[in-house]
Amino acid sequence: MTLKTETYNSKPLGLIPNSRFPLLVHRGVVPGGGAKAIKTCFRENGWSNNWDYPGVYEYAHFHSTTHECLGCAQGWMEFSLSVGEGGWTRVRIEAGDVIVMPAGVSHEMVAQSDDIHMCGGYPDGREWDDIQEQFLSEEDYKRACKRIMMLPIPAKDPATGEAMPHWHDAPSSVDSGWNDWRHALDSRG
Ligand SMILES: [Fe+2]
Repeated sequence: MTLKTETYNSKPLGLIPNSRFPLLVHRGVVPGGGAKAIKTCFRENGWSNNWDYPGVYEYAHFHSTTHECLGCAQGWMEFSLSVGEGGWTRVRIEAGDVIVMPAGVSHEMVAQSDDIHMCGGYPDGREWDDIQEQFLSEEDYKRACKRIMMLPIPAKDPATGEAMPHWHDAPSSVDSGWNDWRHALDSRG
């Protein structure tokens, strides 16, 4: 399958861990969308624990227990994401588009069509948590970062079924300038 894929990098931002893996936006995965077709695609690629719902949370949150994929089944919506230069980027998705959201990246719905309908999925059917930066202590932040670091790269991309090439190609924490951040999680200062 040849898809147009956008990639967005991120860096730790306040008490948002973000990720050394790029956030992926696959365009036109399921032409025309449709919740059933999108959830079937996710599930066939091992991203289960699926839901479909009229949108996603309208407050900024991130997940520490799992990566997440989000597909637009119907309508359109705009995300505010903790990625890109300066830390925040708005991304609009339309029916048939799929976002692969690394654990640690903050996201919220900031605009949407009246008929918006979204689908979600999680690698190996993991359960998700919902962490909001404003309620996070320094200790909880460090624990969340450690959980994120322990998550494996999923076997398959939820949209393409490929072996997550963008994430396996991501530079190590040493090569990408994440070393000081990683060390700080274990310091007592
Ligand atoms: Fe989410």
